[in-house]
Amino acid sequence: MGLLFRRRGGLSAAGQEPPSLRRSVTPPPAIPFVRDLNTPLLKLGPSLGDDWQLRHAFEGVHVTGSTGSGKSSGSGRHLALSYLRAGFGGIVLCAKSEPGEWDVWQEYAEQTGRSAQLIRFDDQGVYRFNFLEYAALTNLDDKGRLITMNLVELIMKMSEAASRGDELQGRAAEQPFWKLAPRELLSHAIDALWAAWGRLKLDEIVQLILTAPRKPEDFTSDKARESSFCLQTLHRAAYEPANPIEPRDLFIVLQYFQHNFATLDPETRSNIVTTMTSQFTPFLKGVMRELFCTETTIVPELTHEGAIIVLDLPVDRFREAGMMAQHLFKYLWQVATLRRDTREAVRPCFCWADEAQNFITPFDMQFQAVARSNRACTVYLTQTVSNYIAMIGGGTPRETTMAFLANFVTKIFHRNDDHATNEMAAEMIGRNLQLRAGSSRGFTAGEGRSRGDNQGWSSGSSSSYGNGGGGSINSGFSGGTNSGVSFNSGFSVGSTLSEQMDFEIQPGAFGYLRSGGPENGLCVEGVWFQAGRRFRANRGRNFLSVAFDQRVR
Ligand SMILES: Nc1ncnc2c1ncn2[C@@H]1O[C@H](COP(=O)(O)OP(=O)(O)O)[C@@H](O)[C@H]1O
Ligand SMILES: [Mg+2]
Repeated sequence: MGLLFRRRGGLSAAGQEPPSLRRSVTPPPAIPFVRDLNTPLLKLGPSLGDDWQLRHAFEGVHVTGSTGSGKSSGSGRHLALSYLRAGFGGIVLCAKSEPGEWDVWQEYAEQTGRSAQLIRFDDQGVYRFNFLEYAALTNLDDKGRLITMNLVELIMKMSEAASRGDELQGRAAEQPFWKLAPRELLSHAIDALWAAWGRLKLDEIVQLILTAPRKPEDFTSDKARESSFCLQTLHRAAYEPANPIEPRDLFIVLQYFQHNFATLDPETRSNIVTTMTSQFTPFLKGVMRELFCTETTIVPELTHEGAIIVLDLPVDRFREAGMMAQHLFKYLWQVATLRRDTREAVRPCFCWADEAQNFITPFDMQFQAVARSNRACTVYLTQTVSNYIAMIGGGTPRETTMAFLANFVTKIFHRNDDHATNEMAAEMIGRNLQLRAGSSRGFTAGEGRSRGDNQGWSSGSSSSYGNGGGGSINSGFSGGTNSGVSFNSGFSVGSTLSEQMDFEIQPGAFGYLRSGGPENGLCVEGVWFQAGRRFRANRGRNFLSVAFDQRVR
């Protein structure tokens, strides 16, 4: 059993899975899931054709709104309940501990009869995820050989989680020299450990690097080997490997440690080692080491069987370590989900992140772009686009943010006080010919001299259209009486209707949406926008005003 072993290739072919994986990864009780892409998940308005369907879920959802605008208890709640009812599996990332996602999702699961599939991955429970071991087992080629570079990339991603801005702008891809050297070292360390012991643990990588000899002569000394984990590993890889290594690969690994790394200038060597090991520190001690460097009792593939895994290691409590842990799990989940065999309709799966600014990565764009065909999706909630702009930084953060957001076809805008978000929302929804009305009134009275009586009415209208797509219609009415010698009164009423290209929704209007709570009758308002959609209830426009009842169950 064990979900991993049902996949094509990889694990079962190699037959090298550590017993811990086979023994303890238990799939949740099976429940059915919706398959038809036209299945309605939410009813958005009175018109029949305005349902929000399974196909739309796969296109991704992005929610913005100020703190307290009703993201979580409004649209978030409606979406989550509908996903769980439809049998989705998924992962839930956790930024805040108060209120914690676990409590929220526990309630969602109860409401939808999904409690048996809800998994809490936290620092108190039974679950362990040796991500390197998992990554090794899912990165074997057809002959069962380790695809080392994929593991190196994964480890580099951990460190990138700490320097997020660089990564989002693609700067990490430039690979400056100081990043290449640790990559090389990592790659050889992984090959040696995998060959020698048939297992991979982050702390053993560090131990190997820290005990690597500084003199080429040590490689032939039995005494040196006694105190060096690195030498013991290399010796075993050469003479009694758990996973036989190609002689050519072994030669390169030995050459590297004996003639390159051992003879490196001490300062350079120390720089490389520090660059690498300092990034791993949060994972090498205490509960994080226990969770991520020991055995494996949870794998991302459980979500494909219906599990909802709450990664309850909130960033505000576990800081860097919580962030790295969740980034890792999320990335491995994304890769695992894209790897699914989709010849049959597979279970819909989601990645859910409130306070999403903590978790966005460039890989999200790649993931969401192909998620539809893999029946997977992303739901991100954040207060403002300014959060992303600040996180992304660099020369064109606004454009990068727009490009990022373009990957989510459905966007829900709740009340917002942030100007940048409101402007972006107004721009996305777009402009159209808008009628603007104006009016004027006047009254005059006075005394004067006039001869004879005089009475009259006049009315008139005029219209004009300009090339810019705007136009105006003016109509006016005026009347007056003038009698006697010394009395004169008059009034005028005018109204103007002008047609001009303008925002469908003015940026400022997002500041007035209702945000739930008793004072709003437990109603949260939002603007539901879907690029390319034509909502019947809004004259074929691509957006709809939607009210979410916070009491929904
Ligand atoms: N279940 C609920 N019933 C009534 N009011 C609620 C409920 N949940 C949240 N609220 C209130 O509704 C408003 C929106 O809350 P919330 O959805 O948490 O906003 P956000 O997630 O955007 O920060 C807040 O005023 C909050 O106090
Ligand atoms: Mg919230």
